[in-house]
Amino acid sequence: MMSLDERIGRRYFRSLLARPEGRAHILSLLVISEEGDEGGVFDELARRADDEDLAKVVRRHKADEERHAGLFRECLARNGLALEELPDELLIVKQVAKDTGAKPIETRTDVMNTYALLLAIEKRGVERFPVIAAAFREAGDAATADVVDQVTADECRHVKYCAAIGRRYANDDAEWSRAVATYAAVEARAFNRVRVAGIAYTLKRGLVWQSLLGRFAGWSLCAATA
Ligand SMILES: [Fe+2]
Ligand SMILES: [Fe+2]
Repeated sequence: MMSLDERIGRRYFRSLLARPEGRAHILSLLVISEEGDEGGVFDELARRADDEDLAKVVRRHKADEERHAGLFRECLARNGLALEELPDELLIVKQVAKDTGAKPIETRTDVMNTYALLLAIEKRGVERFPVIAAAFREAGDAATADVVDQVTADECRHVKYCAAIGRRYANDDAEWSRAVATYAAVEARAFNRVRVAGIAYTLKRGLVWQSLLGRFAGWSLCAATA
């Protein structure tokens, strides 16, 4: 059975994607998120990776995320939509960075922690993207839905690879499990803020839930989950 959260998520995206302004908003969020490699995390990881195989995987991960951004930019262009600038409060990577502070990646533990955080972010994508793909399909944009599905398949691969590398840089399973739990909590806190900020942002601009009842329900939701 679908949870209340999932039902709200579905309704939100269905309403948002019903109009071109809402589609531009979500596609912009996707482009900026895929390009959101704050502080060149991948370059830093590639430098810290202590074998060439690993450095290669890191470069491939970086290239995947850049390709994803390009694919979403094409979706905007195909629909005749422009990329929007979005405030930092809507961007998960910026919010996580705000909470954790920018720390250089120096030790093996730093690499492990970075992968624990990346794992949490990738997992969130895998969980949320199918809802977005379904909403695009429903809105009649099957081409964009196909792109989102294709990206989701890559993110599933990234989840496995983040787990494998993170574990490799941990001293043992217990240390890795602790890092995974710690950074899942860090990500979840930031994600909840970003989600409420996202709903408030789109409500304020009339991009979602245009009816009076819908707006009331939306603002109540923001108040309840803030
Ligand atoms: Fe991606
Ligand atoms: Fe990814």
